[in-house]
Amino acid sequence: MRKKTKRLVFEKVTVLDAAAKGKTIGKAPDGRVIFLTNTVPGDVVDVQTTKKRKAYFEGVATNFHTLSKKRVDPVCQHFGVCGGCKWQDMGYEHQLFYKQKEVENNLKRIGHIELPEVTPILGSKEQYFYRNKMEFSFSDSRWLTLNEIQCDQQIEDRNALGFHIPGMWDKILDIKKCHLQRDPSNAIRLQTKKFATENGLTFFNPRNQHGLLRTLMIRTTSIGEVMVMVQFFEDDKEKRELLLNHLSKTFPEITSLLYVINPKQNDTIYDQEIICFSGRDHIFEEMEGLKFKINAKSFYQTNSEQAYELYKITRNFADLKGDELVYDLYTGTGTIAQFVSKKAKKVVGIESVPEAILDAKANAERNNIENVDFFVGDMKNVFNEQFIAQNGVPDVIITDPPRDGMHKDVVQQILNIAPNKVVYVSCNSATQARDLELMKDMYKVTKLQPVDMFPQTHHVENVVLLEKKELDE
Ligand SMILES: C[S@@+](CC[C@H](N)C(=O)[O-])C[C@H]1O[C@@H](n2cnc3c(N)ncnc32)[C@H](O)[C@@H]1O
Repeated sequence: MRKKTKRLVFEKVTVLDAAAKGKTIGKAPDGRVIFLTNTVPGDVVDVQTTKKRKAYFEGVATNFHTLSKKRVDPVCQHFGVCGGCKWQDMGYEHQLFYKQKEVENNLKRIGHIELPEVTPILGSKEQYFYRNKMEFSFSDSRWLTLNEIQCDQQIEDRNALGFHIPGMWDKILDIKKCHLQRDPSNAIRLQTKKFATENGLTFFNPRNQHGLLRTLMIRTTSIGEVMVMVQFFEDDKEKRELLLNHLSKTFPEITSLLYVINPKQNDTIYDQEIICFSGRDHIFEEMEGLKFKINAKSFYQTNSEQAYELYKITRNFADLKGDELVYDLYTGTGTIAQFVSKKAKKVVGIESVPEAILDAKANAERNNIENVDFFVGDMKNVFNEQFIAQNGVPDVIITDPPRDGMHKDVVQQILNIAPNKVVYVSCNSATQARDLELMKDMYKVTKLQPVDMFPQTHHVENVVLLEKKELDE
């Protein structure tokens, strides 16, 4: 049997700061830190603890004495239940302040990095409706609000099409309006739910593993293309075609209508065959005259407008003269590689997802870019002595790893090559700081630019320029 933690109550706790992972912090009377989930720095609250550890507590505010001046009214009706945009109740300028602070703190405290003059974080022009990709889950037992549970009425509609309740793999919140993706996203999701419910298409139950409909993915691009992919649990041709025909008739703007039949336990589609129902099996995004093909499995930065800003910063930091060999590590569909290619002699991209590399090659051909080469494989295996002997010693390395940062062998390989410049793009400044510390003896951080790609969330992107130290530095 699990040991129950005794819940403690602390009164009138002042919320002092924002902490990692979107939490905030206050102090308990004994000086221990309390990590809170539902407060904004500046609030004064009563706290009930939910977890007790030697060095800290976790808790929630149960009563608010003073509301912080940093607060704003959340725009979304689902705020507080949906895990999506947890910082919606904090003014955007304060969100930016805490993001910048987190980046600087991580680099100083984890990486022990001496920071150059810090450029203010680049905020996003769009603070809502900035995402180009959303994934919604179907459920036949939607998350009920306290009001619904307490009221006597029989609940008829138990279907949901929306997001997972944070930390609960089998509980889905039905979403009426999401403020993250432009229309037709909301319209498509609502229509899919309505039509499926009215026509007896069953919604998935992950516990019992039954039901027809599993997930709905919607991708949009800045040039008006729309991809919709429905994931089914079972192969029911009649019902599948009923829904897909309805979507294609109701939303003629859908450029690419896809489906996948996935009878596995989990709903990841990366090992599944994607079938094109109508239109193309891909959509296009454009950036600075370059065209990028995106299929259902491709990685593409989810905030296209800010991705453009991020890439421009990356290109400026690299400051290419035209005669350099550049390596673009973790190249995805080769967007950065192509973006900097005009200013380089040659760019070599490496990436582990084979489909992304196929897209990268097709994109480069479509964009008439001839000075790029792409290779597929796990970075720590591909990026080795033999690879460098075959492809040349890079003058500049651009690296944009996933949240876990770079494998230590990859960091070591960069140190072995010792290019004059490394541009490190990261979506997790904690792992970036860890990697930078390993490079600290050879490289100096000379430029740093945090970028906000995800307003209303705690996530922050950071670009760092590393320049090789002089021998006597
Ligand atoms: C943050 S994304 C960057 C993509 C690209 N630079 C862009 O801006 O679109 C990280 C990429 O690293 C790839 N990746 C993750 N682990 C990898 C590994 N061990 N080896 C090579 N690539 C990997 C992912 O598939 C993903 O495309």
